[in-house]
Amino acid sequence: MQRIPLTGATGLIGGAVLHHALDRDDATEWVCLVRCGSVEQGRQRVAARLSRFTDPFTAQRLARKVEIVPGDFTRADLDMDPRLDGVTHILHLAADTSWWGDERVYRTNHDGTLALARRARAMPGLERFLHVGTAMICGADAPHIVEEDAYPHPDAKHLVAYTVSKAATETSLAESFPDLPIVVARPSIVVGHSTLGAAPSSSILWVVRAADRLRMLPCDPDSAVDIVPADWVAATLYGLLLKPELKHRLYHVSGGAAGSTRWGDLIRAFEAADPSDGDRAFTRFDLADRAALRTRFAEVFGLDGSLKQVMLRATRAYFAFCALDLTFANDRLLDEGFAQSPSLPMYLATCLASSGEILDQFADDLEMFATPAPIVCQPLTVSA
Ligand SMILES: NC(=O)c1ccc[n+]([C@@H]2O[C@H](COP(=O)([O-])OP(=O)(O)OC[C@H]3O[C@@H](n4cnc5c(N)ncnc54)[C@H](OP(=O)(O)O)[C@@H]3O)[C@@H](O)[C@H]2O)c1
Repeated sequence: MQRIPLTGATGLIGGAVLHHALDRDDATEWVCLVRCGSVEQGRQRVAARLSRFTDPFTAQRLARKVEIVPGDFTRADLDMDPRLDGVTHILHLAADTSWWGDERVYRTNHDGTLALARRARAMPGLERFLHVGTAMICGADAPHIVEEDAYPHPDAKHLVAYTVSKAATETSLAESFPDLPIVVARPSIVVGHSTLGAAPSSSILWVVRAADRLRMLPCDPDSAVDIVPADWVAATLYGLLLKPELKHRLYHVSGGAAGSTRWGDLIRAFEAADPSDGDRAFTRFDLADRAALRTRFAEVFGLDGSLKQVMLRATRAYFAFCALDLTFANDRLLDEGFAQSPSLPMYLATCLASSGEILDQFADDLEMFATPAPIVCQPLTVSA
């Protein structure tokens, strides 16, 4: 019998993994560590996330299959709840994914993960602790093909505080917890769902759509961006969590050479999905030329209101990532027998068919670009 605490069940990837797992209807016990005031409130938060993948009735039914432990993973080492003792695996997805939150992001992602690792030492039956990092810890100076073992690297040139915190977490886990059965999975860039499109989340999809509307790229159309869908990431993480033997302790969960997306292919996919606009002519611009992007953005979206101002800033930040031309090697994953991911051009039409306005999709992602407000921590004492 497997018993698995999951952090981040109310987030995009956590919801996708939970849906994938519960849909299989096996005997695994899932224990979701959720920030909430009561078990029922936590269950409703999980059900709300699951309902992005299925109808509301099924979501409620599936949410009834999990145990809810209200709490904050960053204080897990203080939580002696016995329900966290007899576990076999941990899937740690929770993170503060805001890009510019510096101190709070570091406290949550680095310090919080170490707190969970300390708690894991008191789990005698633990077989695997799957920590989910991010492939973007390679920073801005990485080679075009990024290999797992090259990072974290102390000289990596990070573009945002979020990746600093994720890199430091991996370093500290390796240094301080060699006794734990930790495996690190690093997804690349998660966009949409291969069959549900934008319905579960439009996170980052708005950037790709904005690039299309702006008809501007900060890079050559031949350059690559490593994008994978949430459902494939979920199935792969589930496999990495439960596969009895793994050859490595570190995996990219990425498109790799065969599955990453060339911008040129993405442009063709937009043309195929929306032929009314004919062939799309893109201009290449220099990211250092701030006025070029601003002027074009104002023409296409307008710059009235703070939401559009923040969207311009976020677009510029994402374009900096897009221009890096990175592909994250996935040979290890394929060698373990995992399926190759679909590339975004293969499911772009599905994403567009289920999309609303770009600005609304950006508004859904707004939390990533806001300076975080202080967290109000819930008490760790648990009522069953
Ligand atoms: N999405 C991507 O493109 C991508 C790419 C590479 C790696 N990753 C990694 O994948 C993981 C999941 O990403 P995601 O996109 O699913 O993130 P997300 O949608 O932003 O969800 C974050 C999750 O973490 C939870 N959380 C944050 N702080 C917490 C705390 N102190 N205690 C308990 N729960 C807390 C959130 O709970 P609340 O609902 O209570 O806020 C939410 O469930 C992260 O580790 C991220 O770094 C994501």
